Amino acid sequence: MTNSAAVLADAAAYAAAVEEASVAAAAYYDTGESGLDDDAYDRLARGIAAYEAEHPEEVLAASPTGKVAGGAAVGDVPHTVPMLSLDNVFSAEQFATWTASLERRIGRPVTAWSVEPKLDGLAVAARYRDGRFERLITRGDGTAGEDVSHAAGAVVGLPERLAEPVTIEVRGEILMTNDQFERGNAIRTEHGGAPFANPRNGAAGTLRAKDRAYRVETTFFAYGALPLPDSGELGETLAELPHSEVLAYVAGLGVHTAAGTDVAPVLAATVEEVQARVDAIGSLRAALPFGIDGIVIKADLAADQREAGSGTRAPRWAIAYKLPAVEKITRLVSVEWNVGRTGIIAPRAVLEPVEIDGSTVGFATLHNPADITRRDLRLGDQVMVYKAGDIIPRIEAPVVHLRTGDETPIDFPESCPQCGSAIDTSEQRWRCTRGRNCRLVASVSYAAGRDQLDIEGLGATRVVQLVDAGLVADFADLFTLEREQLLALDRMGETSTDNLLAAIETARTRPLSRVFCALGVRGTGRSMSRRIARYFATMDRIVAADVETLQRVDGIGKEKAAAVVAELVELAPLIDKLVAAGVTMTEPGATPPPEPGTEEEAAAAGADAEAGGNGGDGPTLPLAGMTVVVTGAMSGALEKLSRNQMNELIERAGGKSSSSVSKRTSLLVAGDKAGSKRTKAEDLGIRIAAPEEFAELIGAFLAAGEDG
Ligand code: IVH
Repeated sequence: MTNSAAVLADAAAYAAAVEEASVAAAAYYDTGESGLDDDAYDRLARGIAAYEAEHPEEVLAASPTGKVAGGAAVGDVPHTVPMLSLDNVFSAEQFATWTASLERRIGRPVTAWSVEPKLDGLAVAARYRDGRFERLITRGDGTAGEDVSHAAGAVVGLPERLAEPVTIEVRGEILMTNDQFERGNAIRTEHGGAPFANPRNGAAGTLRAKDRAYRVETTFFAYGALPLPDSGELGETLAELPHSEVLAYVAGLGVHTAAGTDVAPVLAATVEEVQARVDAIGSLRAALPFGIDGIVIKADLAADQREAGSGTRAPRWAIAYKLPAVEKITRLVSVEWNVGRTGIIAPRAVLEPVEIDGSTVGFATLHNPADITRRDLRLGDQVMVYKAGDIIPRIEAPVVHLRTGDETPIDFPESCPQCGSAIDTSEQRWRCTRGRNCRLVASVSYAAGRDQLDIEGLGATRVVQLVDAGLVADFADLFTLEREQLLALDRMGETSTDNLLAAIETARTRPLSRVFCALGVRGTGRSMSRRIARYFATMDRIVAADVETLQRVDGIGKEKAAAVVAELVELAPLIDKLVAAGVTMTEPGATPPPEPGTEEEAAAAGADAEAGGNGGDGPTLPLAGMTVVVTGAMSGALEKLSRNQMNELIERAGGKSSSSVSKRTSLLVAGDKAGSKRTKAEDLGIRIAAPEEFAELIGAFLAAGEDG
């Protein structure tokens, strides 16, 4: 967590810092664009506050510490009640200190805390009269804001009419979800506009824009409501309701709230419970479809809030628990083009290294050439980089107003950077026209890998030898290798040859799930391959499946289904070769699904939906409907199993394996040295079993699977 402050040595440095902060704040609230990222701004603001604490007589009127965050007054619609900001804490200790002082102030423990996401957008007030939308106002300087009603039609979550004819002001945050940001920037650049640097800037810019030739959506999340002068009885009701019930009431009126997201507001009774939820939200952050920059904790009861009261800048009954900044501005130095195992040519951004949330980021993903064009990226650009948790860092967009004019276009390759062949540019993702053959060594090595055919003794060097000798043109050729051919190779004695041939013989008997995985169909890793193999039971059925049928497999949507079907067409000759070589094409223990269009099929489809789509399996499976995560070192009967084998076991026993703990996890198998996943499961109240306990639970399946 970045918690440092800029050190300001004297009055001149202080004045310069105030000036810099004011300019950044004004730009930020005006156009949503500032040359400072959050971290840099916070550091500056903390330096200013530290200087002011030492030199209270020198405080400048323009200091960002003195006013409601938001700085420059924009707009002329007065707020009925000021739109306040929040004070911040950055650690568990600071939070505990804050709660203690609040409880001292009200003279009793706070009855309940509401713990909710701090949505990273901009604050607005939406007024409804008799249930009809009337006006949308920005926060402005907190006492008056700008009328942005013209934009309300493109804000998801703010209905034109409420479910009841009430007069009420709903307050909340407008932001862009990650999808809305991607779509929004694509539309903007198509229309010749400059992309927004990040979703928050996008939301700010979109809200204030008038007469755009295109429509860009944003999303509203309500976090509070208050009566308007002619709200009638509703006024008294709202004043007495706990905050959590106000949110539920607003949601009942049809306004969008964070309820229903993974970080929905929850009530906590103690500081420890609050902290557990803060930690849980922190670890869910990276996977959320929208940005949060912290957690807001509020005293839930109206009486507690009333007695705590508010200062001029912020209420005393609520606090923002800031999460570390996950965005930084850095320079795009170059773009590398790498060819993947399947021949896909993927760009990768090389960045001037920058520290984000405790790790140094030097690269970021760029998905495809269109992604570069859509973002209007140029070499030398200052770019906004996002990195949270263990996700791969990504470039959100260039910070266009920091351009100097020296930026240069990004060159796209004209031939395959791996082998020089032509590039197939007909799809969004470019591909070497030689496809998998372009990276033959990589695809054969992958097929031979531990989680696929697990051919011991067939490392990359040996694969190179086989390919160079012309013995292997795809991995099916492994199954027809002859002893003499191997013996003729360098460093292949009798023993290594016989061992390799024996390993290949074993590979011939691997279950369908592993053979299918070995094909390396894009988007189907180990776990998806197992699901597909278990659902269809035979390779024939997989190959015969159309887009619609494939979608019956848990986790396969329309797009993925279409991609898999297309790839299987391409892989048909290889599959035929594997069949001819006598490689296993069935999944032990899996029952094939009924023929489409029959009554059995209709009944099974219904039952599948309930059992989590584990096609064909009866209800006797011990893990049916459960999502299981494994962490730490396995012991007892499970000691020798790799993570992949554990996952295979879970799925054979009817469960779904997953690598990350979320509220959807049903069970965590935690061995020795289990770390953050265990803590997270504890926080979320998820059942935890030791490996021995788990082995007992799935007993029969363990025995059945021991032959691998
Ligand atoms: S409550 C009087 N709840 O954070 C209480 N604010 O840094 C005022 N924000 O001005 C706000 N998520 O724009 C509240 N769940 C949430 C929030 C939230 C984001 C924003 C809001 C506020 C700013 C303060």
